[in-house]
Amino acid sequence: MNDRPIGIFDSGMGGFTVMRKVIDRLPDESVIYLGDNARGPFGPRDLAEVRGFALQIASYLEDLGVKLIVIACNSASAAGLLDVQRRCRVPVIGVIEPGARGAVQATVNRRIGVIGTEVTVRSRVYPRAIHALDAGARVFSRACPTLVERVERGEVSGDEVEREVRDYLAPLLRKGIDTLILGCTHYPLLQPLIARVAGEGVVLINSAEEVAREVEEKLMRRGHLRSSQASPRHRFLFTGDTEQALRLGRMFLGPEVAEVERVFLE
Ligand code: DGL
Repeated sequence: MNDRPIGIFDSGMGGFTVMRKVIDRLPDESVIYLGDNARGPFGPRDLAEVRGFALQIASYLEDLGVKLIVIACNSASAAGLLDVQRRCRVPVIGVIEPGARGAVQATVNRRIGVIGTEVTVRSRVYPRAIHALDAGARVFSRACPTLVERVERGEVSGDEVEREVRDYLAPLLRKGIDTLILGCTHYPLLQPLIARVAGEGVVLINSAEEVAREVEEKLMRRGHLRSSQASPRHRFLFTGDTEQALRLGRMFLGPEVAEVERVFLE
């Protein structure tokens, strides 16, 4: 048994989509969530810089005593998962491989679309992860640079964002994809809109559920599930605007976001 919290991090609010699934599945666990919104979005930055951020945040969370880390960010997983795993003493779970696995299981015509940030698409981690499971699958990727900022502003519906989603998806839909990976943890917050644009013939893959299952399995195997009878305590740490984080945290995660603390990593 291990009553220490789970650490989850992202560049901002996107990781809430993963945290939701983790606490729904493991309601007795405490979580420390860190959103690096002072430096986010990570998507337009280069791989080495994002890798540096991932290493720094993971070591910060380890110093706070977490028992497992979830990199709830595709950009940071693409750039730094392996280095973070090498550097940390606790288990570290990323979001790419679970999404790739879900897509390979879901596709019938083996034509898979991936949408993500520029750094994720540039890294080509999804085609690599998909081809490791099915070398014959066709993968069509598209960076959607404006969507993260929309979500960070709380704009998850409306004509403008819908027009952007249509433009981003059009070339992928023309390729006849039957499966679309939401390769950014911010995108599930746009899921109703993306589903409408993609149409019924396209299965959307959000890796959060699979990540939550992996967290449970890792903790169970190690005998590290929380045993305390006391209610879990979640902490929300943000490096930038805490008011915005509190407002959007309540909207995206729920009432669990009771207060937000400001932290300085540098
Ligand atoms: N939510 C993140 C991701 O999954 C980060 C987006 C960003 O910071 O650009 O990629």
